[in-house]
Amino acid sequence: MAKATSGFNGLAVPGPTNMPFAIRQAMDLALEDHRAPDFPEFVLPLLADLKQIFRMTGGHVFVFPSSGTGGWEAAIANTLSPGDGVLASVFGQFSHLWVDLCRRFGLDVDAIDVAWGEGVPLEIYEQKLRADSAHRIKAVLVCHNETATGVTSDVAGVRKILDATQHPALLMVDGVSSIGCLDFRMEAWGVDVAVCGSQKGFMMPTGLAIVGVSDKALTNGKTAKLPRCFFDFADMMRANKDGYFPYTPAATLLRGLRASIDMLLAEGLDEISARHHRLATGVRAAVEAWGIQLCAKHPKWYSDTVSAVVVPDGFDAKQVINTAYYDYNLSLGAGLSKVSGKVFRIGHLGYLNELMVLAALGGAEMALLDCGIPIKAGSGVGAAVECYRKTAQRATAPKAA
Ligand SMILES: Cc1ncc(COP(=O)(O)O)c(C=O)c1O
Repeated sequence: MAKATSGFNGLAVPGPTNMPFAIRQAMDLALEDHRAPDFPEFVLPLLADLKQIFRMTGGHVFVFPSSGTGGWEAAIANTLSPGDGVLASVFGQFSHLWVDLCRRFGLDVDAIDVAWGEGVPLEIYEQKLRADSAHRIKAVLVCHNETATGVTSDVAGVRKILDATQHPALLMVDGVSSIGCLDFRMEAWGVDVAVCGSQKGFMMPTGLAIVGVSDKALTNGKTAKLPRCFFDFADMMRANKDGYFPYTPAATLLRGLRASIDMLLAEGLDEISARHHRLATGVRAAVEAWGIQLCAKHPKWYSDTVSAVVVPDGFDAKQVINTAYYDYNLSLGAGLSKVSGKVFRIGHLGYLNELMVLAALGGAEMALLDCGIPIKAGSGVGAAVECYRKTAQRATAPKAA
């Protein structure tokens, strides 16, 4: 923990995100009996309502006690067999790690290396899928939002390619830093497996892997030969059908998840993605005003949940992060792997408003200045202020009697 003696510590990492009071309160309860006769009255609507967040009506949403990484494993282990072909692309630490997981499971992964700062290369996916007339590729992976670089890819575009090439591969999406924040449409985009975790868009503590699965992927799973036990979809579905789990569920987190879903649905998914876009636009205005670059190489890749900011040559992003942390009680996201020391990340996702973003930008701005990076004090915050004032949805103030 940073050393705030008064006020809040700023959390501007791209997950875990800020936790709303309603969610904390929902989890502040005595531990309960997960085999109680009325537990299903809580579980069955919870699983049904999760489908609304994924925008799906068929299939099943699985909730495992795990983090997003477990969700990746569940997706793969339940649908594929050793040696199956997988088409993927790597353009950041998270897209890299999912490929690594697939390889450790003995899958035959064709991973296209893409410059960090770009996203899924649709043209290359199309060429590869067209060339695969024997349908050796069984799954196509898409990291919807690469959290390491702040890049969002076009999931619907990949579905269009699969349809145009009449390729039957499963479309698997890493939605860990997109679902519950960005526009995501499981059914309309023909996504077969979508992986999420609880600590980003769901505004919860880490601890749940939440995985949406289509009917097609569930059917494929019946003949899939990869070994699985803890993450077995079939075991989970058998128990979920009656409102229970095959092992002790993280019931306290499930209570938080109930509150989270209620908040997400009350705000509205379209409103949530619009809010994320508006807040992200202010962050990007700040970065531009500082005169420094984003890691995302083109506006079409810009992520509305995280901005990876490249420090100028000769400076160390770790120093900016440490200064923000120790001197201003602000956590900024670290640069991972290839971009370690080169970028710091501003997470702008989850339970967030303009003032919270302005605080993070203020802290980042002070840290940049302290590290000797030549920006003008107030420039980034000022640009974001102007952006938010221009785009504010103004409530009508009550008139004095
Ligand atoms: C895009 C993406 N995928 C997967 C993961 C891994 O999730 P977890 O750390 O919850 O295991 C992360 C974590 O930040 C992520 O951002």
